[in-house]
Formats: sequence, structure tokens, C-alpha cells
Amino acid sequence: MSHPGEPVIVFEHVALSFAEVTVLEDVSFTVYERECKVLVGESGSGKTVLLKLAAGLLQPDAGRVVVLGQDLGRLSEKQLLDFRRRIGFVFQEGALFDSLTVAQNVAYRLLEEGVPEEETEERVREALRFVELEDALKKLPGELSGGMRRRVSIARALMGNPPIVLYDSPTAGLDPVTAQTIITLILRLRDLYGVTSLLATHRLQDAFGLANFRFDAARGHVVPVWEAAEPPSPASLLPANGQPRTSFLVLRDGRVYFDGEQHDILKSEDRYIRSFLV
Ligand SMILES: Nc1ncnc2c1ncn2[C@@H]1O[C@H](COP(=O)(O)OP(=O)(O)OP(=O)(O)O)[C@@H](O)[C@H]1O
Ligand SMILES: [Mg+2]
Repeated sequence: MSHPGEPVIVFEHVALSFAEVTVLEDVSFTVYERECKVLVGESGSGKTVLLKLAAGLLQPDAGRVVVLGQDLGRLSEKQLLDFRRRIGFVFQEGALFDSLTVAQNVAYRLLEEGVPEEETEERVREALRFVELEDALKKLPGELSGGMRRRVSIARALMGNPPIVLYDSPTAGLDPVTAQTIITLILRLRDLYGVTSLLATHRLQDAFGLANFRFDAARGHVVPVWEAAEPPSPASLLPANGQPRTSFLVLRDGRVYFDGEQHDILKSEDRYIRSFLV
């Protein structure tokens, strides 16, 4: 077990190109335990590529990606497979199998691993209960709304209780109310289970929901991170151990354009950064 505040995902001078297209040129950052780092950047800036690097689904041309203390470039195929079981990935398009039921979609990884049917069923139910979709067990993805499909993807990513979950644009295309249910889920995972995450989004508003709220286990719902009714000050946005729980990484032209906290983003006068605020 790592200690609070320990680095969980570390990128060191990561570069990656496809043919002639340089996607990431020199990207370095760290995500600490229980932190949610929000990735922002225009379409094509490399957010999905970065998440795939963190999951070991792509390897960099240069630099290192170290996750859970393991240098992913040094793992054998077998070790990489084991590593990926510890990472939950909520894909941008949901990536559900249309011909399989919700339960089968969620169970997919366990069935592949040969987990006994009874145990699988129990764990699938538990994951679907967590995303409040137990009733949809036997439905096909085509019968669900966009928000429900997104929740199924999250349930699937939760199989095996991964310490890290990578969310690729989990609220894209959803109305604000549905987007909020997804944000609440992400907060529950972070604050009840200590999940460390990277989250790509175009909607900074959603990200502020992650920065300004936390899930209160005792009350069973989200509450503002500042307890009193006064306006939040940067210090009050920090949890007890002093580590920011939500931070922001802005990508531009293959590089880290900004890496910091909400209050710095909000007071930035930079046009590129401000373009994500509207
Ligand atoms: N497998 C691949 N082969 C070739 N080029 C790729 C591949 N995957 C991604 N790219 C290119 O890498 C760049 C970054 O893509 P990426 O999908 O990471 O962008 P993104 O920031 O996630 O965009 P969006 O906001 O639209 O999801 C794009 O130019 C894309 O065409
Ligand atoms: Mg993408």
C-alpha cells in the first residue's frame, strides 16, 4: 500500500509521434495518490493518447511512464497484462459491445480471466448497484440512454477494484444533470475508495465540480469542500493532508501548457486557457 501523497502516475519527458505527426513532444507531470488530474486540451491535442500511455496500451518513443511504481517500458507482455488489470479505463466512446447485455458487458473481463460464474454475477451486481443500474442488468446497450451507457462503462472499469481509473471524456455529450450524476460517481470513487484518476474533458465546468465538491460518506451525498458558507479560498480547497485533490493539466502543441490548481486557472488571462472556461 502506498502512503497518502505518494506519486502514482509519473510521466517524465514523454514523447510520441505517429508517422510524421508529433502528438506529445515533452510531457512531464505527476498524479499523486487520491488525486484527480483533469486533462484539458483542444481536440487532437493528445488527451486520449496520454491516457493510453498511462494504461500501458501505448509505449512512448522517448521518456518514461511510471505507474504504481512500475516503469511501463520495462515490463514484459505478461507483466503488462497483469498491470492493466489494475487500471480501470472508461473509454471515450463507451466501447460497449452492442450484442451483449449490460451484465455481460460488465462481466467481460472477469469471464475472460476465468473467474467462476457465481462470483462474477455477485461482482457485476455490486458494480451495477454502485452506478445505480442494477435494474438494467439484462438490457442491451442500445436500449439505454447516453448517460446510462456511460455508467455501464464506469461499472465495467470498476471490476477488480482498480486503484487507478482513467476517464476519457466521461461527460461528453451529456446534459448538465446527467453529467452531474457521472461527476458524483467519480467523486464517490475518489473519496470513498481513494481512487487516483486522470480525466480528459472539454468541459472545465465539470472539472470544477470535481474540484469544489467531495463525497461525504456520513451524509451519503456530495458536499462543497469548504464547510462554511463563505466563498472558497485556495487553502480551504485543500484536503486535510494538504494535497490538492483535483488538479488541472492543459495540453498544447504536444507540451504541458499549464499544470496547477483551479484558482490559478480561474485567474489566468491566457487566451488558450480561457477558451476552456466558456
Ligand atoms: N493509433 C493512431 N495512429 C495514428 N495517429 C493517431 C493514433 N491515435 C491518435 N492519433 C493522432 O494523435 C493525435 C491526438 O489524438 P487524441 O485522440 O489523443 O486527441 P484528443 O485530445 O483525445 O482529442 P479529442 O478531444 O477529440 O478526443 C491526433 O492527431 C490523432 O490523429
Ligand atoms: Mg480523445
